[in-house]
Amino acid sequence: MSIPIHKYDVVIVGAGLAGCAAAREAAHAGLSVCVLTKLHPLRSHSGAAQGGINAALSDEDSIELHEFDTVKGSDYLGDQDAIKLMCSKAPETIRWAERMGAAFSRNEEGKIAQRPFGGQSSPRACYAKDRTGLTLLQTIYEQACRDGVTFDDEYYCSDIIYKDGKVSGVYAYNLVDSSAQIFNARAVMFATGGYGRAFKINSNAHANTGDALSIVARHGLPLEDMEFVQFHPTGIAGSGVLISEAARGEGGKLFNSKGERFMEKYAPNKLELASRDVVSRAITQEILEGRGCGENKDHVHIDLTHLGADLINTKLPELRDLAITFLGQDMIKEPISIAATAHYSMGGIPCDKEGHVRANTKDLVEGFYAAGECSCVSVHGANRLGANSVLEALFFGRHVGQTIVEDIKNGILFNDVHISDVQNAIDELENIRKSNGDERVPALRDELQQTMTNNAGVFRTEKSLLEQREILKDLKKRFKNIRLDDKSKIYNTDLQEAVELSHMIDFSAFIVEGAINRKESRGAHFRNDYPNRDDEKYLKHTMAYMDKDGNISIEYMDVVMGNFKPEVRTY
Ligand code: FUM
Repeated sequence: MSIPIHKYDVVIVGAGLAGCAAAREAAHAGLSVCVLTKLHPLRSHSGAAQGGINAALSDEDSIELHEFDTVKGSDYLGDQDAIKLMCSKAPETIRWAERMGAAFSRNEEGKIAQRPFGGQSSPRACYAKDRTGLTLLQTIYEQACRDGVTFDDEYYCSDIIYKDGKVSGVYAYNLVDSSAQIFNARAVMFATGGYGRAFKINSNAHANTGDALSIVARHGLPLEDMEFVQFHPTGIAGSGVLISEAARGEGGKLFNSKGERFMEKYAPNKLELASRDVVSRAITQEILEGRGCGENKDHVHIDLTHLGADLINTKLPELRDLAITFLGQDMIKEPISIAATAHYSMGGIPCDKEGHVRANTKDLVEGFYAAGECSCVSVHGANRLGANSVLEALFFGRHVGQTIVEDIKNGILFNDVHISDVQNAIDELENIRKSNGDERVPALRDELQQTMTNNAGVFRTEKSLLEQREILKDLKKRFKNIRLDDKSKIYNTDLQEAVELSHMIDFSAFIVEGAINRKESRGAHFRNDYPNRDDEKYLKHTMAYMDKDGNISIEYMDVVMGNFKPEVRTY
């Protein structure tokens, strides 16, 4: 059998903001760049980022305040050197995007408008109505095309070629006809987004199945801080589709079924604009204690009616449409129904602040890079502040693109690759295609998502997590007995969903093991049985490794501290 081997200087997997920004930088510097993506680039999940992108632009704000808010928001687990880098480059990142053509909303003085988001000392989120991510994605994608980046849409990358401490390419198959392809490169970058689809109620695109994490982990490489999963406070009740934090930033108020503005109890100073972990727990607590709204008491209300039709139609038109479509509720006329939704992955593929992927707590992998939500730099630590993810994707995407250009200049060479390097990946795919067992992929996926939500969601205990560990082992076993009815090679979505599920089962085990081992509460990781933060034992990053039998071992890595010393975190 022969397989085409495509050669590029740089291969990037994922075409969201981080992938497009890196691709543009590398191509602009004259390198040949290919981006592989499961979707058309403009359907990447970055396009769903609604509310804004942070940068300290105004006279009332400063880079130091942005750094402080981010460190505090991270519950002191964020690496302060990386946070300093990102916050100090944020204003330049906005100007760069604007010069590329991104049309930000303006204030009355004609300056870029900024709205308040949770955990901020000053209004800091620059925005384009409530379509910020889409505006930026369209802009950067166009510029990447202009610089000659090759976009191979509808390719599924299912493995890296990793030998002797170096990544030299990836194995991918074309979703159109299942044809196998090898992409050989001097530098490979993962920018594949998050893993929110492991949870039943989530705000993520269907494509956010965390494939890259399991691909990396199956080679014995570590994943970092996977137990930290962000639940966004305001998902549309039932579906989890995002109602942006911009709704609270513009003045939205949260009420329970008794008509109480309950945030007065949980965050008396910041109220609805406390950080996301605090607000999500408050909403969930109200529901658990029977003060939820509706027949099933399973949601609370956000009231925006006092903002008036003009403001809503000008600044939040997308949100209004979404609430009408998914709930039949018009936010101009009535409060809308929301509950917490799995939204963002703070953990991921560990890398240094230049984007080099870590092989362990000390060494780096040669030729391998990551940026955006799939990576863990770590700028978000245990909890990300709203509007810092679009910044992370755009800034680090661009920055890592520049790192790649430098590293290639300094001499990363092509390593030859052979079909034998991808034989395991080919065999695995064929075995899944031929599966003739009794289990069904959608049923297993549903079980995974529902149990992850119940046992490893907003609130966790030793008991729930140990139960989930056993459920995941069982799902992994049962996955070996799946059946695929569609054995064809043309647009075989059954096959794709099965491969995605196998990845979801593997990386979910990292979430659970990290959470079992972290016997404290910090940021988005809340243990009812250990409700306090324990800096003495756990002011550390989790680094977790999977062996060939699927067992996970954990070591810890120091947090990079800086000017801000850990304090009690109140809002
Ligand atoms: O609420 C939002 O608009 C989401 C933004 C973010 O996750 O940063």
